[in-house]
Amino acid sequence: MKGIILAGGKATRLYPITKGVCKQMLPIYDKPMIYYPLSVLMLAGIREILIISNPKDMTRFKDVLGDGSNLGLKISYAVQKEPKGIAQSLIIGEKFIEDDNVCLALGDNIFYGDQLVALVQDAAKLKEGALILGYTVKDPQRYGVIGFDKDSHVVSLEEKPKKPKSNWVTCGMYFYDNSAPKIARKLKASSRGELEINDLNKEYLRRGMLKVKLLGRGHAWLDTGTYESLIDASVFIKTIEDRQGLKIGCIEEVAYRMGYINKTQLLKLASKIPTSYGEYLKDLLKDE
Ligand code: DAU
Repeated sequence: MKGIILAGGKATRLYPITKGVCKQMLPIYDKPMIYYPLSVLMLAGIREILIISNPKDMTRFKDVLGDGSNLGLKISYAVQKEPKGIAQSLIIGEKFIEDDNVCLALGDNIFYGDQLVALVQDAAKLKEGALILGYTVKDPQRYGVIGFDKDSHVVSLEEKPKKPKSNWVTCGMYFYDNSAPKIARKLKASSRGELEINDLNKEYLRRGMLKVKLLGRGHAWLDTGTYESLIDASVFIKTIEDRQGLKIGCIEEVAYRMGYINKTQLLKLASKIPTSYGEYLKDLLKDE
């Protein structure tokens, strides 16, 4: 399976913070936001990754992540000229996906939880159809909302409904078979002028090929769309990292633990980070 991280958009909801800095590069405690979804893809075993961003911010990602070889990855880049919808990323990424399946991750989504690694590794084995993740929130009207029948079967997906049918919403990480780009091409723009990922998921639902994996209470799926949620996410990460002495979303550590890089390569990465973050990476080797 290949991976796409969508890291574009204008992030006007976070102005003036995002006037000069792109959202997915904002710090979430001790690392850039994009490290979190990237680390989840890596944990899923996905090593070929396409980063899609707008023309203005593209160089930022290239500067920070390069071609990914120092993490044992193959990272490539594609431009989304205008933010015309999340589903457009599958059209932009069509050539990259080739005949493979794909996991699409939003560059501003943060996941954490004990069962997460097993879950995404399992999801990455998808053969056909689509698998999406659901999470229960207090304010479902801000998201894609999942409706269930009395037997808990998924029967509807509604984008930002005024009257949500449940508190379960779709998270920004989606696993698709190879037909996703073709389906995306047939979508019509919504009233907000976007190719909606919700419409793509609805098409899989209509075909009876949509699986929804609900993340239970032991998981955190954090939002970064408002001033408050941005700081909440940082505090959440800081609290757990301080308590455990283990980092969350640390791409260098994940690369090492997944066997994508060896000790020498990890030390080389660590030596270029003259902070406690670099020390943490060095200590990983001492602990052994
Ligand atoms: O976070 C999960 C939610 O993401 C889902 O529950 C919704 O169904 C889905 O539509 C989406 O909700 P939003 O409409 O709130 O997504 P937003 O417009 O904030 O875009 C999500 C990220 O993707 C954001 O970092 C910007 C980036 N993006 C978005 C669009 C529309 C792009 O890079 N390009 C785009 O064209």
